[in-house]
Amino acid sequence: MADKIVAILLAAGRGTRMNSTVKKQFMELNGKPLLYYSLHAFQQSEVDEVILVTDTEDMEYCKKDIIEQYGFTKVTKMVQGGNERYRSVLEGLKVCDNCDYVLIHDSARPFLTQTLIHDVIDGVKRHRAVLPAVPTKDTVKVVNAHGEVENTPARTSIYLAQTPQAFAKEEIMRANAKMIAKPIPGLKVTDDAMIIENYGNCPVHVVMGDYDNIKVTTQSDVPLAMKILERRKF
Ligand code: CTP
Ligand code: MG
Repeated sequence: MADKIVAILLAAGRGTRMNSTVKKQFMELNGKPLLYYSLHAFQQSEVDEVILVTDTEDMEYCKKDIIEQYGFTKVTKMVQGGNERYRSVLEGLKVCDNCDYVLIHDSARPFLTQTLIHDVIDGVKRHRAVLPAVPTKDTVKVVNAHGEVENTPARTSIYLAQTPQAFAKEEIMRANAKMIAKPIPGLKVTDDAMIIENYGNCPVHVVMGDYDNIKVTTQSDVPLAMKILERRKF
């Protein structure tokens, strides 16, 4: 039987750094909410199902004005997110039944391509844990609490992490369970690959990301997002 692939799409954040009246996942970009673009990408892809993680208060809007409006038939479940990103992921994983591989994606990254989704799926089938990333173009400095440079890591080894990150379902479940049972003090989990890095049983493999696959985080990202969208002609 073919492997079942589920995408967990995160849209339960507050968007504090965006400082907008509408939550950033619902901000309109060329007449469509940001969330539309990742749903559209997964709908076109080899992903079988999408679990949408969002606030209960936004579910009706997501259902009527996005999922039904644009015919996103792959969305099978909507679940309430948590206070932190990793908690939202856990809520999604809890309802992810009978699946072999999960892709975890930030709806704040609207420009994931079919190539990227395909590469990530291809990678996870071979490596069990996969992260799309791009080499940094800038020199990176490690700066201490006094605002002084500690060191400069070799640029060739610095990559910027993106989503969708993909995992064998049992691998990410096991690592999450380990994290909950015995959290490493002071460790702030900012992506899912970190959970495998710290609590998993396999290395996280890197596949080439896409420089256009930006995370829309602050107001200054909006004009850039518009430019990418124009180029893509959605
Ligand atoms: N996210 C989530 N649940 C949370 C926090 C974040 O589902 N408790 C989602 C966001 O909706 C977003 C993605 O995770 O699509 C990446 O997070 P980020 O860009 O940090 O978005 P926000 O947390 O919403 O923004 P901010 O950190 O500025 O408040
Ligand atoms: Mg956040």
